[in-house]
Amino acid sequence: MITVRAPGKVILYGEHAVVYGEPALAMAINKYVYVTAKARDDGKININARDLRLAGISVTILENGEVVARTDYGAVISALSYVKRAIEVAMGYIDKKVGVDLMIQSEMPVGAGLGTSAAVAVATILAYIKELGYDIDKRELARLAWQVEKDVQGAASPTDTTMATFGGIMYVKPEGGNAIMEPVKPGANIPLIIGYTPRVSTTKDLVAMVRRRYEAMRDVIEPIIRSIGIITRKGKEALERGDLELMGILMNINHGLLDALGVSTRQLNEMVYAARNAGALGSKLTGAGGGGCMIAISDRIEVEKAIELIGGSVLRAGLDIEGARVLNPG
Ligand code: MEV
Repeated sequence: MITVRAPGKVILYGEHAVVYGEPALAMAINKYVYVTAKARDDGKININARDLRLAGISVTILENGEVVARTDYGAVISALSYVKRAIEVAMGYIDKKVGVDLMIQSEMPVGAGLGTSAAVAVATILAYIKELGYDIDKRELARLAWQVEKDVQGAASPTDTTMATFGGIMYVKPEGGNAIMEPVKPGANIPLIIGYTPRVSTTKDLVAMVRRRYEAMRDVIEPIIRSIGIITRKGKEALERGDLELMGILMNINHGLLDALGVSTRQLNEMVYAARNAGALGSKLTGAGGGGCMIAISDRIEVEKAIELIGGSVLRAGLDIEGARVLNPG
């Protein structure tokens, strides 16, 4: 039996633009998805994932080797599609199809924009491969998990899967089918407050909506995306210098541009402004938007209270530096 954990993340700058080849700057957080895998000898895959609201779902491997996910209601639940695809990809990697019991738990709100789907993909692939006695290096693990996100969502950047695999603070730039990754050393401790509300749209839908606007009004949307890319490069330099004030200003501009792309919500905007009014140096939505998470540069309790007053929940999280890790080796 193998247990693996993989961290969630917040994107400091660059979400959505990163899908169009611009860089993103992201930070892994010390909140984790845990996957425990135990091989079975009957070719079945049982998934117990109470935190994903998927308890008691079983997945059957058909004779032709295709993995088909069925719930009690015959519907395929969205979060399960990441688990299902991750198992298929892991099976492809070791070129073996063996049944397994999987237990999946999350310390983070699922589907809130903290990268839980990427953490699920990374941890499931690593747990499956390790449980069957194989090894995988982290670059390959990140590549396979990115493939899972692309297959399930239709389009995805390597940001979330890179963070869930490697941890730390990373400047990620997609280059063709590859991800250029540069670990970033912050010049100062970055005090971050994370606020979240329930999501009203999925990452897949939001990425598709931005794509439709891009296709329909490329002359309007393209400059917004390029501006976000410039903000991310400047944000990285500010982070390296420990210039929190400039980081805050850049976050505010980044949020305005994400709102212009149409991925913010009234409640996210209210949380973002409440945080600024309570003294945060800067604030923005983080992740895909459509509800979900925002971040603020601040360590002030007043900022947390202001977010809660708007109806948001506050998550206290620090930096993860390890990325995906097997918890019980050997
Ligand atoms: C989601 O955390 C970030 C997006 O940029 C999508 C992606 O990078 O795949 C919205």
